[in-house]
Amino acid sequence: MSTSYGPTDGPEVVVLPDADALADEAAARVAAAMRDAVAARGRCVLALSGGSTPRRLHARLVAMGADALPWADTYVAFGDERCVPPDDPASNYRMARETLLAHVPVPEAHVLRMEGERDPDDAAARYEALLRGLAARHAPGDAPLFDLVLLGMGADGHTLSLFPGTPALDEATRWVVPGTAPVAPHARLTLTYPALARARAVLLLAAGAEKRAALARVLVDGDDTLPVARARGRTRTTWLLDRAAAG
Ligand code: 6PG
Repeated sequence: MSTSYGPTDGPEVVVLPDADALADEAAARVAAAMRDAVAARGRCVLALSGGSTPRRLHARLVAMGADALPWADTYVAFGDERCVPPDDPASNYRMARETLLAHVPVPEAHVLRMEGERDPDDAAARYEALLRGLAARHAPGDAPLFDLVLLGMGADGHTLSLFPGTPALDEATRWVVPGTAPVAPHARLTLTYPALARARAVLLLAAGAEKRAALARVLVDGDDTLPVARARGRTRTTWLLDRAAAG
């Protein structure tokens, strides 16, 4: 059971009873986006988000079975990364590898890892070159590169590693920049709003009462100063919330 509502020009908001129902709905939407992209364009470019919320989603994508989704035609990118080695417990790549990528037949060459172990400026430039190379092959001109970007949201209204009051929010041209988080690991790599402008669709997942205040500021008060408020997909922006987060 879910309800959909949202500001007229804002995201489609769907409220699910709990975190498990949210993960079920998210998995169904990710699966549909992957299938639609491959059917329409022969490939899917999916960007994963970090943190802990995606774990339940990843488990459901794995449980569908190795042949259920077009992984061989899918590229997996990352929305952001902590500036730590890939085997560090704080690494978003490590979390994605352990909970999803090691269990589905996505070609190794299709996994585009942000190099958290490198100097952040160098890693950001290298990742941007990787994405722009993919766009040159699969999304010429101003065509959307990402078929779906998965996002989470922090209690402070950050998304990706776009934290309130940080310079990354003002980046107008680069797709990937170093970011700074108020919590450790402080050094981050993140996609920017110009990168999100090359996303066909954005799917944000937020679960838990600690997200409620930030969500109310955006959805009820219309506060568009929080980083998450500006995270829009080109054709579709959907927020999946559980009842605890939606209030
Ligand atoms: C990260 C994420 C970040 C995350 C939110 C929510 O690197 O931490 O990309 O933007 O999505 O902080 O995290 P939780 O899912 O753990 O609440």
